Amino acid sequence: MEFHIKSRSPEKQRSACLVAGVHESRKLTPAAQAIDDAGDKYLSNLLRKGDMDGKIGQSLLLHNVPGIPAERVLLVGCGKEADLDHRQYRKIVVNSIKQIKQTGAREAVSYLPGLEVKDRDSRWKIQYAVQFTDHELYQFKDFKSAKKDSKKTLRKITLMAPREELAQCKSALSRGVALAAGVKLARDLGNRPANACTPTYLAQQAEELGNAFTSIEVTVVEEQEMEELGMHSLLSVSQGSAQPAKLIIFRYQGAGNGSKPVVLVGKGVTFDTGGISIKPSSAMDEMKFDMCGAASVFGAVAAVAGMELPINLVGVTPAVENMPSGTATKPGDVFTSMSGQTIEVLNTDAEGRLILCDALTYSERFEPAVVIDIATLTGACVVALGKHATGLLSNDDPLAADLLQAGVTAGDRAWQLPLWDEYEKQLESPFADMANIGGREAGTITAACFLAKFARQYHWAHLDIAGTAWVSGKNKCATGRPVPLLVQYLIQRHERQN
Ligand code: BES
Ligand code: MN
Ligand code: ZN
Repeated sequence: MEFHIKSRSPEKQRSACLVAGVHESRKLTPAAQAIDDAGDKYLSNLLRKGDMDGKIGQSLLLHNVPGIPAERVLLVGCGKEADLDHRQYRKIVVNSIKQIKQTGAREAVSYLPGLEVKDRDSRWKIQYAVQFTDHELYQFKDFKSAKKDSKKTLRKITLMAPREELAQCKSALSRGVALAAGVKLARDLGNRPANACTPTYLAQQAEELGNAFTSIEVTVVEEQEMEELGMHSLLSVSQGSAQPAKLIIFRYQGAGNGSKPVVLVGKGVTFDTGGISIKPSSAMDEMKFDMCGAASVFGAVAAVAGMELPINLVGVTPAVENMPSGTATKPGDVFTSMSGQTIEVLNTDAEGRLILCDALTYSERFEPAVVIDIATLTGACVVALGKHATGLLSNDDPLAADLLQAGVTAGDRAWQLPLWDEYEKQLESPFADMANIGGREAGTITAACFLAKFARQYHWAHLDIAGTAWVSGKNKCATGRPVPLLVQYLIQRHERQN
């Protein structure tokens, strides 16, 4: 998809399809008003006949509108002017794309970024118009035999911006394009079936990313070296699999050496059978998405590199496959983690924390300003928050507040759960320093308590994306969350420091 930006009034703009908003009730936005003025009140006369009221979800496609050179005009309902917030804006943009797709227009010009959106400026409206549009047009066809798109697919969208803000809006557009590319990468990796998305495949894709951007340096730590580092917790998860584990490291250097990096750690379980504590078979296919934390690190790193943000960023993604076999870990087995702390594995299905803990210890070497891990960690998080909010737990409240704020701005929200010492007791083990599960109660919190024991050296936050990383059902698909949240956090953090 191609995105452009421009500043021109609708009566002068050629296009296969001009998109303009109408508020409830029948109140024309400035762009629609300009079309109306050019065409001798054509729009207002039509609307008066009752063809469209302006509610969100409504639209009206018109051909040969008098007074303007565009072939079509798509009027899109924008709801009550006073109620227009960022969530409505998203619905309006998405609805416009759904409608354009059906017209057969290959190109469109949208005036929707000109809408007044509560607490959002032009830059935000442009950046997220790109992100929401690209998200809506996403398709994953890598494994369909018929791949060709028809000739009549939308290829190019031009967004209209106010002339006096054109420069800022151009940079917002390229941020939007980079963000959308990062989200797409995360979704492509997530959707890819586990037989074609092994730890080795992820390591190869990481190398590709390193080739695409000179600012990204990639290293892959192999099992032999993990042994030497003492990562026995990580290795205990992959020991039942024929696929070797990989620890993939991205280093994006956008700032000087003096600037401490943010480290993103992503759970990369390319398939989670549960291991010997095997999962029930229903919906087990969805455990191919158990590497979406890692995919979000790939996506965030790609987006930041695409934006050329002047920050330092490290990505650490442990990638493994969790399988039952004659060599698999058995319940009750005890392992020593890289930190020296010992772990009794009571349930081999609580594997995410076992790979993350060693990745967290490994992250100390980067002397991080902040470490954020991202993981499809607990079914309990889906029970608590459903698919709308990512679970957030942190050992540093200001960091948690920043992430919550970034989620709101990006429309990719998280919700904080407590990380109190009281919960830690649930992890006690008679045989090791800790057990890897904490019982039925507060499963998301006890999982985070486990990780917290490996994150004592720095400010750390944990994002549990078990509910948000993909949607189930007939439109089953990876969402690319929380790439928008992460990238927004990194932008905000950078802007505050400068
Ligand atoms: N990958 C799963 C968590 C998961 C389950 C995410 C369903 C999304 C949907 C994780 O490895 C897991 O199996 N967690 C267990 C932990 C339990 C054994 C303490 C769970 O949530 O049941
Ligand atoms: Mn599991
Ligand atoms: Zn898992």
